[in-house]
Amino acid sequence: MLTQYWTVDPSVAVSADAGSINPSLAAIQEAAEMIRAGKVVAFPTETVYGLGADARSDAAVERVFAAKGRPSDNPLIVHIASLSQLDELVGPRSATAQRLMERFWPGPLTLVLPARPGAVSKLVTAGLPTVAVRRPAHPLALLLLGAAGCPVAAPSANRSGRPSPTEASHVKEDLDGCIDGIIDGGPTRVGLESTVVEVNGEHVRVLRPGCVTLAQLEEALAADASYGGAQISPFVLHAEEDTSAPKSPGTKYGHYAPRGTMFIVMEHGNDTDSSQRVRNGIQTRLTEAAQRGEKTGVLVFTHRNTRYKADLVINLSPNNDLSTAAQGLYSALRRFDTENITYILAESCSEEGIGHAIMNRLLKAAGNRMIYI
Ligand code: TXA
Ligand code: MG
Repeated sequence: MLTQYWTVDPSVAVSADAGSINPSLAAIQEAAEMIRAGKVVAFPTETVYGLGADARSDAAVERVFAAKGRPSDNPLIVHIASLSQLDELVGPRSATAQRLMERFWPGPLTLVLPARPGAVSKLVTAGLPTVAVRRPAHPLALLLLGAAGCPVAAPSANRSGRPSPTEASHVKEDLDGCIDGIIDGGPTRVGLESTVVEVNGEHVRVLRPGCVTLAQLEEALAADASYGGAQISPFVLHAEEDTSAPKSPGTKYGHYAPRGTMFIVMEHGNDTDSSQRVRNGIQTRLTEAAQRGEKTGVLVFTHRNTRYKADLVINLSPNNDLSTAAQGLYSALRRFDTENITYILAESCSEEGIGHAIMNRLLKAAGNRMIYI
């Protein structure tokens, strides 16, 4: 299959002039027509690139699962351009759901809500009675979704198990020749997938942490007394898997993993001595790995000045800002693969704010392998 490739200027949405022929707008129209015709097209969102298909069509959604090699019991997020599309997907919303949409849409928050039966293909929801819905905050995504005029099922546009794509070149790397088109709208702003919450009446449960943080959710729901009844269950890192509780099916699969073996370095204490101990401990392990013939890599969040000796050292936040780290994380994981790194150590970062989501993705990338130093 030939994959069509469009380079599109993200500012086209704001500068769109109905009268003139704009190549970027023409590309979006063409991509939207492909989606309407049951084809699959990758497009940028503010989080990561998505692989979009008409959510109502079994055949189109099947193509998404096939291209990604995704297990069929892992449901997809349905993307919409406007709130008016919501009524066809879900029933009446609780005040809590309404509040979250008002506060965070368009944006990187996905709501899992009771589905209207038959609204989307059963393949999208993997047979669950709920549907995950998101209205993204990327001008090109909104243009495309609006032009397609249908609910668009879109998982991250990577091969299953690979890091999510934050640039069109990542999508090409994984899916060239397997999908109908790729809209290149430049690198994505957030870099991690949306926060997923299940909303059941006034009860909110975080199924996947993301850039909308627990504190922001709490603040949004506490802001107005009329929504004061909402209760939030946080997503707990390092928790034992509770198989009895309903959860996001996707969370049980290995994800985001580089090909090399990766360990997350956890630090006991946070005094000056412990930083020194961690630095020494990391360097010792890197040196030993190199002596075993491994090609070594290290991922740092440098609040401290590290000069590790390794084949590849990636500093995710030279400016000490975790949003920058989030943005660059998946590119970094892919880079370890490009450089054939076989042994990777990653420092851990603070679990405050978006740090919680970064640690969640790092732990997954490492298959929960941790080293305590
Ligand atoms: O930022 C994002 O969310 C990106 C962009 C493209 O929008 N999409 C994305 O999709 O990350 P995906 O398929 O890679 O992850 C969707 C997650 C999975 O963990 C899946 O199990 C969960 O959402 N999910 C989808 N429908 C669900 C449902 N009905 N109940 C519980 N979890 C659901
Ligand atoms: Mg994904």
